[in-house]
Amino acid sequence: MEYRIPEIRKAAELLKSKLDSLEDKRTILRAPELQALYDRIKPLPPGKARADFGKEVNTLRDELEAQVASSKFQTAKLAPIDVTAPFDVNIKPADRPNPLPAKYGSQHPLTAELELILDIFYGMGFSAVESREIDDDYHMFTSLNFPPDHPARDEYDTFVTDEGLIAPAHTSIMQNRVLKTHKKDLEAGKGIRFVIPGRVFRNEDLDARHEHTFYQLEGVYADEGINAGHLVATITAWLSNYFSKEVKIKIQPFYFPFTEPSFEFAASCPFCEEKGCSVCSYTGWIELGGCGMIHPNVFKEAGIDSRKYSGFAWGFGIERLVMLKYNIEDIRHFESANLKFLRQFS
Ligand code: DAH
Repeated sequence: MEYRIPEIRKAAELLKSKLDSLEDKRTILRAPELQALYDRIKPLPPGKARADFGKEVNTLRDELEAQVASSKFQTAKLAPIDVTAPFDVNIKPADRPNPLPAKYGSQHPLTAELELILDIFYGMGFSAVESREIDDDYHMFTSLNFPPDHPARDEYDTFVTDEGLIAPAHTSIMQNRVLKTHKKDLEAGKGIRFVIPGRVFRNEDLDARHEHTFYQLEGVYADEGINAGHLVATITAWLSNYFSKEVKIKIQPFYFPFTEPSFEFAASCPFCEEKGCSVCSYTGWIELGGCGMIHPNVFKEAGIDSRKYSGFAWGFGIERLVMLKYNIEDIRHFESANLKFLRQFS
């Protein structure tokens, strides 16, 4: 919470740092610094300044109360639980673990932003289908035109079970499924327009820009007479809508086995309009993802005639976009479950 009145801002900082070191957190609500703020309200002349002052003091008190309440739950001794065990329906309510109650929770920023992004695509005539969190070699590679032992597989180094099941490294695993399932629509002249959000996993060296677990949004569009112009127009329209301003996109040649031609796409930096700033590393452009025209072999694998139909697909990282929008400096905050980070979006 940002306090606009300097006196309250200062007291808030002080009280919050005191709270961290207090054994009994409730005593913060009786702190002399908080009482002093309340005492300052009465002598102020009636009017807007007084009302604003009173409002901010009350907000500060509410914020402290919420922190006291949540710390009570976080420090309470909980019985150890086996998080890998299936939830036991027979456990007596009194014996169940007592985690932080839902009323102190809020929507995760990625969920909130994803809902917004999906709404934009619904408005453009797309439907959504969720990706999966466990898959097989066929959907991860073979159906996407990765020949066995092809070096392009190395780009998607992820986790594999002893049985050969794969934690998907991209949401493109859904392309074959979506194309196969909706082949009928294509043949009925309706076209295929899907966005596919999902969680993906990679064996990464972690840093501020790389996580082992992150989210992507895949897009698949197929119909008669579709070309790369439609691809550029679709991505430009949705990004401009998301950032509420006209965003330009730039595509440059790249390689993916499942698209031909393949591109990487970058958007003009929404913060500096290509002048260069710290967000875009002074290049004026921000790389957002990969895209291209769906490869004939991917259509063939789904039983679709690529001489009659064409289409485009893309995949971009959702954290990247949300980090851009809110100026978040480290991708690892998203999976950290750190309430101090999450509460800034509540
Ligand atoms: N799956 C790719 C990745 O994660 C991104 C991508 C590129 C998806 C091109 C696509 C595409 O659908 O056409 O690196």
